[in-house]
Amino acid sequence: MKLPTLSLNHRLTTPFLHPATNLSASRSSRVSNGPFTVRMSLKEDGPSVAIVGVTGAVGQEFLSVISDRDFPYRSLKLLASKRSAEKTVTYENRNYTVEELTENSFDDVDIALFSAGGSISKKFGPIAVDKGVIVVDNSSAFRMDEAIPLVIPEVNPEAMEGIKLKSGKGALIANPNCSTIICLMAATPLHRRAKVIRMVVSTYQAASGAGAAAMEELELQTREVLEGKEPTCKIFKQQYAFNLFSHNAPVLSNGYNEEEMKLVKETRKIWNNKDVKVTATCIRVPVMRAHAESVNLQFETPLDEDTARDILSNAPGVVVIDDRAANFFPTPLQVSNKDDVAVGRIRQDVSQDGSYGLDIFVCGDQIRKGAALNAVQIAEMLL
Ligand SMILES: NC(=O)c1ccc[n+]([C@@H]2O[C@H](COP(=O)([O-])OP(=O)(O)OC[C@H]3O[C@@H](n4cnc5c(N)ncnc54)[C@H](OP(=O)(O)O)[C@@H]3O)[C@@H](O)[C@H]2O)c1
Repeated sequence: MKLPTLSLNHRLTTPFLHPATNLSASRSSRVSNGPFTVRMSLKEDGPSVAIVGVTGAVGQEFLSVISDRDFPYRSLKLLASKRSAEKTVTYENRNYTVEELTENSFDDVDIALFSAGGSISKKFGPIAVDKGVIVVDNSSAFRMDEAIPLVIPEVNPEAMEGIKLKSGKGALIANPNCSTIICLMAATPLHRRAKVIRMVVSTYQAASGAGAAAMEELELQTREVLEGKEPTCKIFKQQYAFNLFSHNAPVLSNGYNEEEMKLVKETRKIWNNKDVKVTATCIRVPVMRAHAESVNLQFETPLDEDTARDILSNAPGVVVIDDRAANFFPTPLQVSNKDDVAVGRIRQDVSQDGSYGLDIFVCGDQIRKGAALNAVQIAEMLL
């Protein structure tokens, strides 16, 4: 497997799809091992864009998404740590030099896409805002700050009302946690119809959610275990290949880990509903890329499974893969490098009376819709 590299040839093979499925493929995902297809998003009247953490898993995906969506930019500044400074990136037919992130990095920048971790966002996000930059942040640093919008464009675009590009005023917009985005892409259209009063989520989360180094470790461990060697455990404290374990986020005093509590708190903020009951169990599985989630929903008003399937089939950014006869449902491989979130196993919850409950199974590429794509969609709303 090729890990994210600066040449952008890091994509996993797009698997065979069931003929009935029609997921939106990213354009660059259709490029195999040849040179990156040159699309030119460089436009004189576009904003000046900075990418913070460009050498990471999400940072690399920012470049792909910008190109795939023809996001216009007047100039592009590629920022990472000192370790990566001076590396050359060839992108859309031009050579860029990666610069070390410093306090002076944001002069003449309009939009900064951050994906370098919470501590970097906390330090440099406000510095950028002070310089009039609109920051779209992928870390958890500002998500629960009441003054900062937490946005999924298909779900709550109204949250960023009033934030305007080139108004001279900087602003921060937070990208939700990847599991929250994938879950709410599917749950929100149903919530709009029948109001969710309780949601139980169980996740099956990929290595890529923990960054490029975690993907590398899973690949290395898989090889080591097959060769009968002791697996190298640097990123995770235990064997990951041929195993699964509770999410590596710190466990809190209430017994939930931080990833689970993000699902609880962020759902309430995004839905602007403090009363919705959410519980979650988050698990890491040895999948390279794309998360899966089992979601149980309890509604205030009845919602039958056929209506739910219909609603989901018409929801933006969602594709239904629900072929019971063929036992064919969403998988992480199907959605890898895809924009859409796939939903299947849509069925009435037999443990609830009437049509007040549904079970669904959701898969989404968390580097893409769970991070880079969502952030670029937010940036598009600023144009
Ligand atoms: N992976 C996902 O699916 C996902 C989804 C949603 C949100 N996120 C969030 O996005 C952020 C990045 O995640 P990732 O998975 O892309 O991690 P990653 O692959 O480990 O990449 C981290 C990036 O941060 C840069 N960085 C580290 N220290 C820095 C410093 N002192 N100054 C400037 N840049 C620095 C790294 O640059 P060097 O290469 O120079 O070290 C690299 O570009 C995290 O906050 C994560 O929680 C990730």
